[in-house]
Amino acid sequence: MDVIDDIRHFACLLASMNKEGLDTKLIELGQDLISKISDSSTIQVENDLEHVRRSFQNYHEDVSNEKQELQLKDKKQIRVYVDGCYDLMHAGHYNSLRQGKKLGEVLVSGVNSDIEILAAKGPTILNDLERCQIVGACKWVDEVAEETEYTPTIDTLNRYNCDFYAHGDDISIGADGTDQASILKKAGRFKMFKRTRGVSTTDITAKLLKLNELSEKEVLEEIKEEGEDEASKISSSQKPTIGSFNANPNFLASAKRIAQFATIREPIESDKIVYVDGSFDIFHPGHVELLQKARQLGDYLIVGIHEDLSVNQYLGSIYPLNALHERVLNLLACKYVDDVIIGAPYKITERLISDLNVSVVVKSLDFIQGTIKSHALLLNPYEEAIKREVLAEVKIESTLTLKEIARRIANSREAITKKLTKTAARQEDYEKNSKFICEVR
Ligand code: CTP
Repeated sequence: MDVIDDIRHFACLLASMNKEGLDTKLIELGQDLISKISDSSTIQVENDLEHVRRSFQNYHEDVSNEKQELQLKDKKQIRVYVDGCYDLMHAGHYNSLRQGKKLGEVLVSGVNSDIEILAAKGPTILNDLERCQIVGACKWVDEVAEETEYTPTIDTLNRYNCDFYAHGDDISIGADGTDQASILKKAGRFKMFKRTRGVSTTDITAKLLKLNELSEKEVLEEIKEEGEDEASKISSSQKPTIGSFNANPNFLASAKRIAQFATIREPIESDKIVYVDGSFDIFHPGHVELLQKARQLGDYLIVGIHEDLSVNQYLGSIYPLNALHERVLNLLACKYVDDVIIGAPYKITERLISDLNVSVVVKSLDFIQGTIKSHALLLNPYEEAIKREVLAEVKIESTLTLKEIARRIANSREAITKKLTKTAARQEDYEKNSKFICEVR
């Protein structure tokens, strides 16, 4: 009889499962069923068998799901904690986050609080929220820890459930002259990566200060307010002088570095390609907002980064503060960016739109026309995009612009100069005296 054979088979299965700790209620159900073979009708036994089978199956599925979860939990992910001021983010910061991520599976980036930084070094230019926004937009950062202490401790690591603290080989020396990571080192919870030479917040701030001294009037008064006739304002001091003081000979951006930063994802034919361009000088949260909004308009975002000469012409003789290769790296580190055009044309051409298969060209009034100051203004870079009806205007809520950064520097010039003296000496010491170490691979 088929049903009886089924039950016998099932009884054997139950017996073997019993050894593996099968749920006792299920065993009882099964045994009850087996005892019914002799004294029940076939129909009754068949119904009961079906019931037990279903219960068994559900139980079995629950157990395997639980097992899978346990297996995942067993394979614990290594969580790495890095931290910093991350004021005026630059390629060195991004390279530190890239290396930090390689040291584990999850990268938690602690953004030191304004108050702690003020006490340890001096005032920041971007505030807590702004610095967190920009760190959170980095593609290697999984979690942002806000307003953290300047000197991380074992408690800090435990609070963020991290295994290690990682810092550059310029390991920070506190105000009291001690190695800030010594306790973590002793506890075996410290890892080191290589600091990137030739690029720092200190250098960028120094340029901004110098810019401020050289052309305070230009920066604070002459930057175009919307609707003003800029062409009439071009003064002789604004003639392009590319390479004046902004070229940074110490920062070496190799092809390998660009490859490390780039995301290798080819767009597929059905992808809606979005294009946005600009100078992206001193990468800040206003840029992040623009890129995030632009990315939301399609599936693949290409950012055109204007060449130095072009920025020089439309922003003024002292711009860009960051050279093209530095700006390229900053953009490549942003999680909303899929690809960049290195040295994109100021005027968006028909060829560019068709060769890149662009469906949407994004324009931000705040970022582009709002700061243009020279003859480049006379060209309408969006003519072709308007003709093709692919232009999308994006409203940026952030009030942060290059002009605002310059204004902040001007407002706390004294305190910033004092801070710079300290940090510049430390940086010089590192760059002169540190031994070569390899980057994290
Ligand atoms: N960092 C780096 N390369 C740089 C600058 C910073 O690898 N050129 C690393 C630091 O070693 C640190 C992290 O970035 O682990 C955060 O640094 P941060 O506290 O922001 O500042 P500084 O080390 O003072 O950097 P900067 O000189 O740019 O102010």
